[in-house]
Amino acid sequence: MAGPSLTIFFLGLLFFCAISEASKCSVKGLPEVRNISALPQNNYGRGGLAHTTVAGSLLHGLNEVEVWLQTFSPGSGTPIHRHSCEEVFVVLKGSGTLYLAPNSHEKSPGKPQEFSVFANSTFHIPVNDAHQVRNTNEHEDLQVLVVISRPPVKVFIYEDWFVPHTAAKLKFPYYWDEECLEVEPPPKDEL
Ligand SMILES: *[C@@H]1O[C@H](CO)[C@@H](O)[C@H](O)[C@H]1NC(C)=O
Ligand SMILES: *[C@@H]1O[C@H](CO)[C@@H](O)[C@H](O)[C@H]1NC(C)=O
Repeated sequence: MAGPSLTIFFLGLLFFCAISEASKCSVKGLPEVRNISALPQNNYGRGGLAHTTVAGSLLHGLNEVEVWLQTFSPGSGTPIHRHSCEEVFVVLKGSGTLYLAPNSHEKSPGKPQEFSVFANSTFHIPVNDAHQVRNTNEHEDLQVLVVISRPPVKVFIYEDWFVPHTAAKLKFPYYWDEECLEVEPPPKDEL
């Protein structure tokens, strides 16, 4: 699958389909075109992370995709985790390392493969493969645009690569949706 055309597809989808029904957590009443620099940012208790939900499920009523902008300071990264959604990364700034343990029938993810990621690179995570993205560049932030399918994301987190799949901790929905959990669920209309 072609990374760049997928990205363009998703960005197109974002711009043409992002606005949905009203809820306290929706963008209704906000401008159609929004300045990413002015959107809320949070680290959700994770050191070194700045997360912005560019377009969200509960936040904006999206059913099919969610788009995040994430910045990792040197040395920080995602937990080791897996999920059953598709995920596409576009590296906007900096560099780092993707650790990926191909889905196997072993009891735990096992030793991951390592890939260098760099500005203007793109990669996607196969469904259910355990993975981690880390900023392994001491000098610069790593900034990525992330698109996931089927929000809100349901994550299984591993303390290390050798934790059995059965001992991975389920987090659902993941942090960035919680602020909107109290309001009405997003509309279920087909896109
Ligand atoms: C977007 O927001 C940033 C930060 O608030 C501001 O500096 C910038 O001028 C804004 N851009 C536009 C086009 O309004
Ligand atoms: C990323 O790659 C595209 C295609 O070659 C190019 O047009 C664009 O300028 C590149 N962007 C950066 C930030 O290097």
